[in-house]
Amino acid sequence: MKVLVTGGLGFIGSHTVVQLIEDGMEIVIVDNLYNSKIDVLDRIESITKVRPTYYNADVTDKEEMEKIFAKENIDSIIHFAGYKAVGESCVKPLMYYRNNLDSTLTLLELMEEYHVNNMVFSSSATIYGLPDSVPLTESSPRKEATSPYGETKVMIERILEDVSKVHKEFNIAILRYFNPIGAHKSHLLGEDPNGLPNNLLPYINKVAVGLLPYVNVFGDDYDTPDGTGVRDYIHVVDLAKGHLLALRKLEKNCGLFVCNLGTGKGTSVLEIIHDFEVATGVKIPYKIGPRRLGDIATNYASTDLAKKELGFTCDFTVLDACKDGYDFQLAEEKRRSK
Ligand code: WQD
Repeated sequence: MKVLVTGGLGFIGSHTVVQLIEDGMEIVIVDNLYNSKIDVLDRIESITKVRPTYYNADVTDKEEMEKIFAKENIDSIIHFAGYKAVGESCVKPLMYYRNNLDSTLTLLELMEEYHVNNMVFSSSATIYGLPDSVPLTESSPRKEATSPYGETKVMIERILEDVSKVHKEFNIAILRYFNPIGAHKSHLLGEDPNGLPNNLLPYINKVAVGLLPYVNVFGDDYDTPDGTGVRDYIHVVDLAKGHLLALRKLEKNCGLFVCNLGTGKGTSVLEIIHDFEVATGVKIPYKIGPRRLGDIATNYASTDLAKKELGFTCDFTVLDACKDGYDFQLAEEKRRSK
């Protein structure tokens, strides 16, 4: 099977590409390097001994994408490419709507023209907004998202549902990620955002290697056991496996389905800091500060449907993810110091 992976050099994309190659699939990556680095391609080759086909292109550029569809005989698509910083989306909404919607619409039009019927779409638990109850199931209501980023995911899910009603031949998996963390055991792939990290684990990792002094805990007055925010942190390698299982399901002409990809367990900020210290032996200083705008108290996944529909279960724990993420950060700092 030949799979087009947009955003395939990114954090989740690169881990997924490795799993697909190891499963014997042929990969074509399209990535404009907006939020990734070209040396990830070398690292994928180093891990798998296979160098995927790579195009430096923007998925919103239909002319360029048409050339790739015409040249490559694509069977399925995994669409990761998209802007994903919640805070940035609040400041630059137009950039988020243009990019995230345009890239998806371009792919769908080319799927029609080139009779490519299978797509896995990278959605997010953020579409649930402020949950009425947890754990969140796939039938929990889609709410108004707390950011334009989240709103693009809500809109794209609706577009995919509407297109599926017309194109009965399309098979589409909408995967709703919770909080991906960790890194590949080779220490070659991981999350290493430029500048000040928005997300908790990349921030903790930079504190752990001495690049930042302490973690700011955004509020300890939530209605949670220790007052800090609770999330469902899933190892990125487990998340990647979920994509492989979803692709396999699409091959059975299943139509459209939606699946949470999480662990089914909520972990608070203070618990994550503690787990990180246990997993790595590194003390993480922190200060309690004010809540962050747009944050919710708790969300974590019901994993029943993923297990039933995909046979998906997690192989790794939060402790594994903390250790793997830290080992990647250490290795990255060593590479940078050379
Ligand atoms: C986790 C918890 C914070 C940073 C977002 C997007 C989601 C997905 C993952 C793209 C919260 C707390 C955080 C810090 C803190 N992104 N925190 N100090 O907000 O759950 O999810 O990123 O797909 O769509 O919504 O992730 O890691 O930013 O926050 O206390 O420096 O850690 O308040 O409780 P979030 P996060």
